[in-house]
Amino acid sequence: MPKVLDGVAIAAAIKLEVAEEVRKLAAGGIRPGLAAVLVGHVPASEIYVRSKVKTCAELGIFSEMITPPESVTTEEMLALVADLNAREDIDGILLQLPLPAHVDAKLLLDSVSPDKDVDGFHPVNAGRLQAGRPALAPCTPAGVIEILKRSGIPISGQNAVVVGRSDIVGKPAAMLLLHENATITICHSKTRDLGSITRQADILVAAIGRPGYITPEMVKPGATVIDVGINRITDPVEFEKFFAGDGKRADTFSKRGSTIVGDVHPKAFDVAGAYTPVPGGVGPLTIAMLMSNTVRAARMRRGL
Ligand SMILES: NC(=O)c1ccc[n+]([C@@H]2O[C@H](COP(=O)([O-])OP(=O)(O)OC[C@H]3O[C@@H](n4cnc5c(N)ncnc54)[C@H](OP(=O)(O)O)[C@@H]3O)[C@@H](O)[C@H]2O)c1
Repeated sequence: MPKVLDGVAIAAAIKLEVAEEVRKLAAGGIRPGLAAVLVGHVPASEIYVRSKVKTCAELGIFSEMITPPESVTTEEMLALVADLNAREDIDGILLQLPLPAHVDAKLLLDSVSPDKDVDGFHPVNAGRLQAGRPALAPCTPAGVIEILKRSGIPISGQNAVVVGRSDIVGKPAAMLLLHENATITICHSKTRDLGSITRQADILVAAIGRPGYITPEMVKPGATVIDVGINRITDPVEFEKFFAGDGKRADTFSKRGSTIVGDVHPKAFDVAGAYTPVPGGVGPLTIAMLMSNTVRAARMRRGL
């Protein structure tokens, strides 16, 4: 039976450690602070930001939610970010994406001070990460590494294949695995014969954004499969394709009218030695690592 890598438990352990660090910093009069900027009313973004703010409260991190209207201009957002960059009580700035189309998202992300860039999206942090300097790494890939390490999965010397090359997940995941001494291969939409490459992977990271794209024959028996994908499916035919015979899932699907599937076909997990389930695998790590980055930023800014 493949081992299930329990992201919920690992995230809970990280959050306990972060809370302990926050307590220690408090003894020295320091309270890490996160500003979460949520523009307009995107229901999914509202849920994400609320859960980030709630987690801050649980761990003793100060947080402030700033909610400019949908009509906000790039100039107004730049002024808001400049104000947050200058504030002593704010260590992390989070611009919840997507921003409205009329706002220049790239310009704004680049205007966040790299030292407060707890999402790790700023090119300066990408450069620091690549150069092996202390950096705020993007939360989801940093979470992938935590899952592997805390589950005792060897990384050094292993063949790691990352499918996906986004700046947010694929590229930084590959860079972090390289720093852990894996031999890395990065695949993308132009890769020829993807399966022949993924079958070489001791560690296979799927960050594609296509439901169930990695099928059983693309996985080396015994490999560790990390499924970063989050895809909502609502079509009963598609549901059957992925979850035929899964009674528990069928119950949820009929109650909610949707379910989440990763970028890996659930049947492919049977071939693996270990895997992250969806939901309950990589997902919970993202917020945990955001909290960890906020405390890290608070320390780094003060030279601690
Ligand atoms: N767990 C979490 O907290 C979390 C966080 C972020 C994202 N995600 C999920 O992770 C997935 C990836 O997110 P992302 O932001 O990295 O997505 P993205 O920016 O859309 O990037 C997708 C990557 O997959 C590649 N790709 C697309 N089709 C492919 C194919 N047929 N064969 C091989 N590669 C292919 C693309 O290649 P090209 O570069 O050639 O186009 C691209 O590099 C999504 O499901 C997203 O929802 C989860």
